Amino acid sequence: MPDHATAFSTVVRERRSLRAFLPDPLSPAELQAIFEEAARAPSNCNTQPWVVHVVSGSKLEQLRETLPGEFLAGRISMDFPYDGTYQGVYKNRQYASAQALYSAMGIPREDKARRQEAFMRNFTFFDAPHVAFLFLPEPFGLREACDLGMFAQTLMLALTARGLGSCPQTALGFQADQLRAALQVDPSHKLMFGISFGHPDPGAAANNCVTERASLDDFVIFHS
Ligand SMILES: Cc1cc2nc3c(=O)[nH]c(=O)nc-3n(C[C@H](O)[C@H](O)[C@H](O)COP(=O)(O)O)c2cc1C
Repeated sequence: MPDHATAFSTVVRERRSLRAFLPDPLSPAELQAIFEEAARAPSNCNTQPWVVHVVSGSKLEQLRETLPGEFLAGRISMDFPYDGTYQGVYKNRQYASAQALYSAMGIPREDKARRQEAFMRNFTFFDAPHVAFLFLPEPFGLREACDLGMFAQTLMLALTARGLGSCPQTALGFQADQLRAALQVDPSHKLMFGISFGHPDPGAAANNCVTERASLDDFVIFHS
């Protein structure tokens, strides 16, 4: 394989959702380079239908203080509804990914309190020093949401390539109204999800989680 194919394979296989970060922030130059690479993501007609708010420092600390309480008080405002339920094979995969995470963390399935505690860490961004909130401007819909997903994956691969880590989080879309207010985001920009990122904590059990993938036979149909 050419060198860059090997490098790509390494990066794409190394990327995992990491759920424990060190407090050290990235430099402004690193942030700039990473987001410039993410912006190379493709989009329909090159419309680049993404607006990204990157939150760090004291602004992020304010959110870390307030979001858990908002969630526990039931103040949920999602721009894109999600009830977390899946059927059939998708449900099996959902269960397997939860199992992979909780077993990496040494949390037994029946220990609801520790599972809840681990889940709540979504709202403190797994201690990450940065969060990217990904917004889709109105009137964009499903097609442009795919573009946003491509941006997100390119961003996460750019982070992995530098030895950094990330976790994409639907949970960070649970308080869209509150985040719009805190970040002074235009009401026509709808929050899809957030990505916590930074230097991974190498000692954290949560970061040992490795998920499986379905075999190609389960989802690719080659025609000739
Ligand atoms: C759009 C999106 C939203 C996600 N939301 C969450 C989330 O709210 N909390 C979380 O811990 N993981 C979340 N994940 C991470 C998935 O659980 C993870 O990608 C999946 O289990 C595969 O594992 P991997 O990313 O380590 O390969 C999300 C992933 C994606 C792509």
